Amino acid sequence: MGEFVRFEVDGGIGTIRLDRPPMNALNAQVQGELHEAATEAGTRADVRAVVIYGGAKVFAAGADIKEMVTADYASMVQRAAPLQAAFDALARIPKPTVAAITGYALGGGCELALTADFRICGDNAKLGQPEILLGIIPGAGGTQRLPRLIGPAKAKDLVYSGRFVGAEEALAIGLVDKVVAPDDVYSAAVELVSRYVTGPALALRAAKAAIDGGLDGDLASGLRLETQLFTGLFATEDRAIGMASFVENGPGKAQFVGR
Ligand code: CAA
Repeated sequence: MGEFVRFEVDGGIGTIRLDRPPMNALNAQVQGELHEAATEAGTRADVRAVVIYGGAKVFAAGADIKEMVTADYASMVQRAAPLQAAFDALARIPKPTVAAITGYALGGGCELALTADFRICGDNAKLGQPEILLGIIPGAGGTQRLPRLIGPAKAKDLVYSGRFVGAEEALAIGLVDKVVAPDDVYSAAVELVSRYVTGPALALRAAKAAIDGGLDGDLASGLRLETQLFTGLFATEDRAIGMASFVENGPGKAQFVGR
C-alpha cells in the first residue's frame, strides 16, 4: 500500500487506485508505487483481472512537470529508465487489465491508460499527449504504444500537435473502447473484466503474451511464439476441463480452476 497508489482486491479483481490530488501528477514516488502495484497485481493468485483507476474526477494529468522543471539531460537519463520500467511492468501484468478514465488522461496519464488491454472513459474525458507543448516528447511509452493502438498517422497528429481528444473522438479512433457516464466508469470497467475472473487464467495469460509479444516483432516470430504458447496450454488442467466439458455438455459450460 503506497502513499499515492493503493492496491485493493475485491472478488478477484485488483484495483490500482491513483490518489494524488488534484491531478494525480505522476512524480517519481507515484511511478515507484505503480511499479510495486503492478508486481503485486501480477503475482497474487487471488487477482485474476485488474482495473487502473484515478478516481471520480481525473485519471492523471501526466508526469509531474514541477518535479521536472529543473531537470537536465543527465538527471533525466537517470529518471527515464525507472519511469519506463514502471509502465512496462503494468503492460506486462499477465492478466486482463482495463483503464477506467474519468476527466483528464494526458501525457504520462494517457500513457498509463495505454499500458492496459482496454480503456473505458467517461463522456467528460480528455485524452492527449501534450508533451510537445512543453518542448519534449512522450517518455513513458507514448511514441510506441499509441501508434500500435491507433496507427502511426493518428498518433503523429496527437503527438505533434499536443491537442486533447474528447471521448467521442477517442472512441472513433480506437483510443478508448467504450464511453459511459462519468459516474459509471469504474463499474463499467469492473464489469468488462469480471467475466475473466473465473476464466482459464493460463490461457488468458498465453493469449496476452502471444498478442503483445507478436506485435513486438515480425509475423514469423509471432507465429512461432503462438505455437509454443498454444501447445504449452495442453499441460494445463483448464485445457482438460474445457475440452471434456465441451464433449459432455456442449460449448461454454466449463468450470475452470485457473491451473
Ligand atoms: N504536473 C504537475 N502539476 C500539474 C500537472 C502536471 N502534469 N497538471 C496539473 N498540475 C497542477 C497545476 O499546476 C495546478 O497546480 P496549482 O493549483 O498548484 O497551480 C493544479 O494541478 C490544477 O491544474 P490547473 O489549474 O492547470 O487546472 P485546469 O483545470 O485549468 O487545467 C489541465 C487542467 C488541462 C490538466 C492542465 O493542468 C494541464 O494542461 N496540465 C498539464 C498536462 C501535461 O502537459 N501533461 C504532460 C506532462 S509531461 C509528461 O507526462 C511526460 C511523459 O511522457 C512521462
